[in-house]
Amino acid sequence: MNVKEIIKQLTLEEKAGLCSGADFWRTKAVERLGVPQMMVSDGPHGLRKQSDEADHLGVNESIKAVCFPTGVTVASSFDKDLIRVMGETIGKECQAENLGVVLGPAMNIKRSPLCGRNFEYFSEDPYLSGTMAASQINGIQSQGVGTSIKHFVANNQEHRRMSSNSVIDERTLREIYLEGFEIAVKEAKPWTVMCSYNVLNGVYASENKRLLTEILRDEWGFDGFVVSDWGAVNDRVEGVKAGMDLEMPSSFGVNDQKIIEAVKSGALSEDDLDRTVEDILTIVDRYQSNRKPESVFDRDADHEIARKVARESMVLLKNKEVLPLSKNDKVAFIGEFAKKPRFQGGGSSHINTHKTSNAVESACEYLGLSQDEFLYASGYSIAEDTINQKLIDEAVHMAKQVDKVVIFAGLPDAYESEGYDRTHMRLPESHDALIEAIAQVNEHVIVVLHNGSPVEMPWIDKVSSVLEAYLAGQSVGQATVDILYGEVNPSGRLAETFPKRLEDNPSYLFYVGEKDTVEYREGVFVGYRYYDAKNMDVLFPFGHGLSYTSFEYKDINISTAKMSDTDTVTVSLRVTNTGECKGKEVVQCYVVPLKSLDVIRPIKELKGFEKVELEVGESKTVEFTLDKRSFAYFNTTINDWYVPSGDYEIVVGKSSRDIQLSAHVAIESTVEIPMVCTANTLIGDLLQVPEKAKVLEPFMQEMEKVFQGEENDDIAAEAITKEMKEAMFRYMPLRNFISFGNGQFGHDDLEVLLKALNN
Ligand code: BGC
Repeated sequence: MNVKEIIKQLTLEEKAGLCSGADFWRTKAVERLGVPQMMVSDGPHGLRKQSDEADHLGVNESIKAVCFPTGVTVASSFDKDLIRVMGETIGKECQAENLGVVLGPAMNIKRSPLCGRNFEYFSEDPYLSGTMAASQINGIQSQGVGTSIKHFVANNQEHRRMSSNSVIDERTLREIYLEGFEIAVKEAKPWTVMCSYNVLNGVYASENKRLLTEILRDEWGFDGFVVSDWGAVNDRVEGVKAGMDLEMPSSFGVNDQKIIEAVKSGALSEDDLDRTVEDILTIVDRYQSNRKPESVFDRDADHEIARKVARESMVLLKNKEVLPLSKNDKVAFIGEFAKKPRFQGGGSSHINTHKTSNAVESACEYLGLSQDEFLYASGYSIAEDTINQKLIDEAVHMAKQVDKVVIFAGLPDAYESEGYDRTHMRLPESHDALIEAIAQVNEHVIVVLHNGSPVEMPWIDKVSSVLEAYLAGQSVGQATVDILYGEVNPSGRLAETFPKRLEDNPSYLFYVGEKDTVEYREGVFVGYRYYDAKNMDVLFPFGHGLSYTSFEYKDINISTAKMSDTDTVTVSLRVTNTGECKGKEVVQCYVVPLKSLDVIRPIKELKGFEKVELEVGESKTVEFTLDKRSFAYFNTTINDWYVPSGDYEIVVGKSSRDIQLSAHVAIESTVEIPMVCTANTLIGDLLQVPEKAKVLEPFMQEMEKVFQGEENDDIAAEAITKEMKEAMFRYMPLRNFISFGNGQFGHDDLEVLLKALNN
């Protein structure tokens, strides 16, 4: 398709029409010019391809498809290759179903454990989110279909999601909320970006030119189309001007008409409209030229890939030597989730699975037992929140007769979903009560959790093990049994902190805001950036996860001890499997910036991670290359990333709280932050900049003389030490030369001085 030629031949009405969907899921065709329709589908962890009865909340049925583990689950794999494979698989499925774009990955930051969509999102850390998203995008797009990273940006709650104004300072926006999207756009070039429903600092994301054009396109080089989240358009004409290309779903012509009128009245330039149409048609063309109609959607094969992803992602949070189970253990599975697991979330990502596996049936298959021979008690009813004493008593009775009990607990569907947020961080009462009761009669309790976001664990000291299975997709039962029985060594790590209580979370006081205003007052201190800075006790830290084997870190090496901010530095170390079985370790690299009074920064930030597989006794070298961005913060004076000169520590560990090795590098900045001096500039600040200090020197000498004169007259002045004098000058604004200058320094002198300083 020659897009530019086609645009020349399109009428104004056709162009305006192309800027919105034909229906819920398709773009419009222009048959006379050979422009085909293109269908899109949710996303993000499998296909929700709907036909006739379309909706954006996952209510009506879609085709039978494969449900992969949700965002938070797969992020916990910390495995870039694995999520790429998952992406490739979803991409192939799209080809088989003739879909042009899959709506995902969803990559908003998990600001609070309460966000209803946390299960779909990757992490509280932007580097991890961006890196995992980039791999998933690369996987999907390698199959010739597009992705739509969403929701751009600062859609961190479901409460009033279509109207709330996220108020975020520039540094926080750049360092936390935009960073992941930036990595994904730069590293993986997603075909499309989905703008969010919410308002950002007073302007709807769907008409935010700074966001959609200046940052996304001009700064990051995005070259696809921006699609609105379903129903996110406020003012369509402003949207076109801002770079919001495709409105979804269809507005039934209403907004197309507004575009036509705006062009006719001159309120919208036809060039802006042409650019929008070009963005859309370029992607439609890419879809058409990459079609592979011969592709097949092999659901059973993909179920096995989903199983692999699930078992590499689950996180073993605690293990007092009761796992793995042995085939000879007398075990009972308790909790209705063992038969009816929760493995995906509600809303637009909800997949109509072609099959699912549960833990009881998978264990029976593994052990060669019939379900009648296997010990199972429901313990609670998923349908009810309240404690059912009869079910607990039955479960307790069973627990007394076995060596080990596996309790399946977590959050039922109604607890977390797209569309609303949680109001607390607890499990249902019935699950907590069941765990407490069983722990009283059996010493070997293992809890398997199905949830999309952290939960409080008041019983943590009373149980032996906890396996965080998250929402693990349709192969959940098999993957759980694979880990419980040690067929697979757990290797997931938490992509988020589990605080002890909700009140500890940094956004606690401000989450969900006041009416339509949500101020992100905790700033850059999101997740471990806050807990670590406060040295606060947490239930489980970011990056934490256990294995059935053990690993040792040694021999850290750094390629240079001194560098400029334009260089890169490589850190390497040896990791050895010192335990008794094969396993995978996630080696995490954090940068600890120098302490500075000029800028408040988190004490450490993740800047690299690698997952390595090691046989018993095997060692491997792991390497991280860090560049300017790894050390920088976003400086709002220069509107750019900036690395202050000084010392940095590079630390490597098993979690943000379990640091094993460290090395130092001194960095010299090549960027000068311009300093504009005014009458209110402090003398101390000027003395730190050699050129300014030089200009100031003669004036300082004069002032010294004046001060000395005063001191001679006053006996008490003898008590003034050199340090005190220096301190007085340090915090003194230049204008005080006049007030303390004994009449020898006037406004004209100040003007001369300022001119010299600003030259
Ligand atoms: C969701 C999107 C989704 C879209 C289409 C919206 O409600 O926020 O994530 O892709 O619906 O289903």
